[in-house]
Amino acid sequence: MANPLLSVSDLVVQSHRNGSPWPLLNGVSMDISQGEIVGLAGESGAGKSMLGAAINGLLPNGCIPVSGQIIWKSESLLGASASRLHGLRGAEIATIFQEPMTALNPTLRIGRQLMDVIRTHRLSDDAKAYALRHLSDVRITEPQTTFEAWPHQLSGGMRQRVLIAMAFMCRPSLIVADEPTTALDFNVRNQVLDLLLTLAREQGTAVLLISHDIGVIQKSCQRIHVMYGGRIVEQGSTDQVLNAPHHPYTKALLKCLPHRAEPRSRLQALSSDERRLPGCSFRARCDCAEERCVEVPALMVIGERARQSACWRASQAEVII
Ligand SMILES: Nc1ncnc2c1ncn2[C@@H]1O[C@H](COP(=O)(O)OP(=O)(O)OP(=O)(O)O)[C@@H](O)[C@H]1O
Ligand SMILES: [Mg+2]
Repeated sequence: MANPLLSVSDLVVQSHRNGSPWPLLNGVSMDISQGEIVGLAGESGAGKSMLGAAINGLLPNGCIPVSGQIIWKSESLLGASASRLHGLRGAEIATIFQEPMTALNPTLRIGRQLMDVIRTHRLSDDAKAYALRHLSDVRITEPQTTFEAWPHQLSGGMRQRVLIAMAFMCRPSLIVADEPTTALDFNVRNQVLDLLLTLAREQGTAVLLISHDIGVIQKSCQRIHVMYGGRIVEQGSTDQVLNAPHHPYTKALLKCLPHRAEPRSRLQALSSDERRLPGCSFRARCDCAEERCVEVPALMVIGERARQSACWRASQAEVII
């Protein structure tokens, strides 16, 4: 990809358990271009939020990037100072989290929180007018009422609209949207997702859309990355990956979708023992596992360069059904 906005390469993030290094991200690579909406799917514990946090420079205490690179517009973020990362956050890379209540300060009215961001980033001399305009942009019909409200007075959908307004206020180049609709009632999920994508397309903002729900990614993203056990195991155009999955894990994930014709199955989250296994961490539950799966397969190109699968069988360019 020529001059990507963000380029993550071979990123390894570890914590420690019982005194031993514990892999959380295991050689993750991903490029995002300007204005691109890219999906990241995978089961709970796969490492999706950890990758989002690494991009934002917000890794939890004890989670250390030990190798790899995160390049933002030609600048290395892993070596960047805390003040540089603080400056980037919000202004160039914004995040929308799953639970809006945790991202809002419950002791401050919405308007005050919006104006704090506007003043911090010196976005406008008239902070109130700027805030009201951005509340209208996220289709809030009574911006003044919302401006004066406390977070607890708003519905989950309204709070997420406020956070979307906050994210777009600085005109960031990238938004990391970590399960932005998962905590919402079913009937407002689509509205909030549509709003986020419409604003991103209007403003040319790239989005890393993180979701364990492949249906959300299918509807929104041209490219998808499927993550399992801290690794990207499959990636490519959303159409190709979802219509002709190569990796057995992607196929298992797709079987969990409610609208599929086959009987719906449930995926068990990866256990600690499976994570410790050498080789492909899916092999313990993979119908196609072979001897060579004790070695971790790298992502292998299948046909087009952007279409890759980390399964030994991908090297035979066969679709595993
Ligand atoms: N603060 C932390 N300290 C140490 N390990 C953590 C921390 N937060 C998460 N982990 C571990 O990192 C791994 C990846 O977790 P992560 O939160 O990225 O998963 P996820 O794919 O976002 O899952 P979910 O769909 O449930 O949000 C898991 O093994 C998890 O136990
Ligand atoms: Mg998560």
